[in-house]
Amino acid sequence: MNPQDKRHRTILVTGGAGYIGSHVVLQLVEAGERVVVLDDLSTGFREAVIGAELVVGNVGDRALVERVLREHGVDTVMHFAARTIVPESVADPLRYYGNNTCATRNLLECCRDAGVAQIVFSSTAAVYGIPAGGSAREDTPTAPINPYGSSKLMSEWMLRDLAAADGPRYVALRYFNVAGCDPEGRIGQSTKNATLLVKVACEAALGKRERLSIFGTDYDTPDGTGVRDYIHVDDLARAHLDALEYLRAGGASSTLNCGYGHGYSVREVLEAVGRAHGAPVPFVEQARRAGDPPSLVAVSDRIRETLGWRPRHDDLDFIARTALQWEQKLAAVR
Ligand code: UD1
Repeated sequence: MNPQDKRHRTILVTGGAGYIGSHVVLQLVEAGERVVVLDDLSTGFREAVIGAELVVGNVGDRALVERVLREHGVDTVMHFAARTIVPESVADPLRYYGNNTCATRNLLECCRDAGVAQIVFSSTAAVYGIPAGGSAREDTPTAPINPYGSSKLMSEWMLRDLAAADGPRYVALRYFNVAGCDPEGRIGQSTKNATLLVKVACEAALGKRERLSIFGTDYDTPDGTGVRDYIHVDDLARAHLDALEYLRAGGASSTLNCGYGHGYSVREVLEAVGRAHGAPVPFVEQARRAGDPPSLVAVSDRIRETLGWRPRHDDLDFIARTALQWEQKLAAVR
């Protein structure tokens, strides 16, 4: 590749200081890609960006985005920057439509004007709402039950319509339950006031919180607790690199589920974290949490076929171990 080509192959990662984005940045850098991160550090961490330049700012800042795209010769955008807390989206929907949907519209307009060739978009299984039977294929009707899911679905629609109007080609990845941390322990999930099960379970195991609440034990599932498709963040990050390769090879715009295709219950997750820790996780059983589907599992054939994605860490114990290791590291520094 001559230097001219290289200058036009920079990848802009928005939200690259966050949990998932930072894992993707690390893999891109390790793969020899040139990466620039745009993150306003509202929930991300400066030290999570390893090996790439960090521009501190918001995706909704048009002048800034235009400048970054131009100055870095960006041809690919991976878009993670978003707010992601479901109950917060219910309480403050306009914040979610502003931060997730309107900011994405701004980014897409800048991408179109700058001639960006391809986009990898961070979407969510929340677009399915409560699918019949507890599992979702990409053609399962979308029916989000909270503003977070709606805000992401609207972004998917913009991508679809823009691509149809000769805009950038894209891969939208619908994440199921992302968990675990960099197996080498360099970065992890540092989110404050965490709500996600695996992280909360690790905090409870280490005594950072008194105990974990199991939300609902009367679901129509094998052990009565909610079932989810937990995917290791390292495998999820790899899917983004596979999507990049696919788009560079001229692949058509696609929307793909990111999950392993099988689920675990809350109790099974607690047992795995207990095994990793060597002692049971303290818990209390509580009523169901509003808006939780009983079961949400991916049908993930399409991503395997389209991208050739092959997960390496389809192992709940590995997810629990890497999550716990990171939580121990955080405990040591804070
Ligand atoms: C997460 C994502 C959501 C995505 C979904 C895909 C976030 C904030 N949420 O939501 O966007 O659509 O995965 O499946 O990223 N639980 C407890 N106690 C706790 C925490 C959770 O029992 O303290 C249970 C929940 O009731 C649920 C399961 O654990 O059954 C997973 O919950 P959580 O980790 O919060 O993720 P989701 O709600 O599935």
